[in-house]
Amino acid sequence: MAWRNLLSGEYNLPERVSIFDTTLRDGEQTPGVALTPEEKVEIAIQLDKLGVDIIEAGFPITSKGEQKAVSDICKLGLSAKICALARCEKNDIDVAVDTGVDWVHVFLATSDIHLKYKLRMTREQALTKIAEAVEYAKSRGVVVHYSAEDATRTEHDFLMKALKVAADAGADSIDIPDTVGFAIPMVIRKIVSSAKAVTGKPIAVHCHDDMGLAVANSLSAVEAGAEIIHATVNGIGERAGNASLEEIVVALHTLYGVKTNINLQEIYKTSKLVAKLTGVWIPKNKAIVGENAFAHESGIHVHGVLGSPETYEPIMPETVGRKRKIVAGKHSGIHGIDFMLKEYGLDMDRAKAKEVLERVKTLGDMGMRVSDTKLKAIAEEIAGKPRDDRLISLKGLDITSNMNGAMARISLKIGDDIVMAESFDKSPVAASLSALLNALSSKMNVKLIDFKIDATSYSPDLTCEAEVVLTVNDSQELVGEAVGHDPAFVVVNAIISGIEKAMLHAAGEGMV
Ligand code: KIV
Ligand code: ZN
Repeated sequence: MAWRNLLSGEYNLPERVSIFDTTLRDGEQTPGVALTPEEKVEIAIQLDKLGVDIIEAGFPITSKGEQKAVSDICKLGLSAKICALARCEKNDIDVAVDTGVDWVHVFLATSDIHLKYKLRMTREQALTKIAEAVEYAKSRGVVVHYSAEDATRTEHDFLMKALKVAADAGADSIDIPDTVGFAIPMVIRKIVSSAKAVTGKPIAVHCHDDMGLAVANSLSAVEAGAEIIHATVNGIGERAGNASLEEIVVALHTLYGVKTNINLQEIYKTSKLVAKLTGVWIPKNKAIVGENAFAHESGIHVHGVLGSPETYEPIMPETVGRKRKIVAGKHSGIHGIDFMLKEYGLDMDRAKAKEVLERVKTLGDMGMRVSDTKLKAIAEEIAGKPRDDRLISLKGLDITSNMNGAMARISLKIGDDIVMAESFDKSPVAASLSALLNALSSKMNVKLIDFKIDATSYSPDLTCEAEVVLTVNDSQELVGEAVGHDPAFVVVNAIISGIEKAMLHAAGEGMV
């Protein structure tokens, strides 16, 4: 690392950091998100595969479903420790402990703002409540993690007093929440250093992203010796969210050389699962897990990356379970277009590839996105390739629908064969999808891993786009996309484009 030597001696880095995952608790507090116990179990199993040390599974006092979810997760026998949140109230602690958790996370705010307007308590009363709650939770035989809510807006000396009270009462570790994302990295560093000295306990931080500083603040805590970091997958959580697990972990491994127990290869899969089950989609430009995090369009970058990926990539996409993507657009250059055409098995000479590039740039200048499918259609037209030469194509899709549901009849050309199928389902999209999968079932085993359809933005030319992730006969995961007017046609065409890629891969045509 070019700059690491510049900083040696400035840090008090721990050798290893434990990841306290709060996706199922603070993450679920994202406005509009509610998970069923079954969905929480599915995410907990994946978090365990990811290797988080502690799973904060929920806040059991809030509902019966929450109690069931936490206790179901406790019964899974995962390697991660399971934790539940509780206010400094006996009943909260009892309900949390009775779910069978290993850890209870008790919290009481310490800032004057919270004491005055929310808790209506004096500082002395708060100290007594913290001591009583920690002692009581300890007496119930669990590991106790204490959080001083709104720590970063708490007067420093009183914060240290509260943390010492919790430590003396038996708390096993102490957390410093930046509840409204109000701290800056240097402040977090100072608070963590003081808390370590005053309590002698492992220190955690729980940073919110109101100012976009949650990850920087969390890393700053590690620089000062914090051994536990609270984080959520995709950074979901209250308001602007919590610190992103994937960003913190990759930074710790790559930039700081600090170990965690996280299996980096599981990051993308976990991120997709959390996005799917919470309905909180990942911004395209999000670090590590966003669609564009390993995508390259501009000619200079693509040229560099094709020469050696490290020119424009800080880590290999495969490290976090992803793949590099070259995208066609107004900034493309000939190297990128050549590369993509080869991916499609279209071996064009330079002059024709340049014609494709010009068309791509013209579309870009008109403000249009050039999807893989669009690029392929342009290239096939320029190459003069008859559309019927395609390995798989849609010959017909008839849909009739009424208030009871929809009937779809589909015909496909696969190689030299025509296959047909029909299906009735709740909606035109669902019926078309199942007719397609029925038609394919005699020819190949298609597994749909994920699909996303965006029909929200209106434009007279383009009203809908779909992206699917699939495998064919247990192949590697491939992405198919399509654009158009009708959601059912677009989804079917996206799947067909993914299958065609798989068939090209299988035939070994023009692959990298
Ligand atoms: O943000 C916060 O302060 C919390 C506490 C419950 C730790 O989520
Ligand atoms: Zn929080």
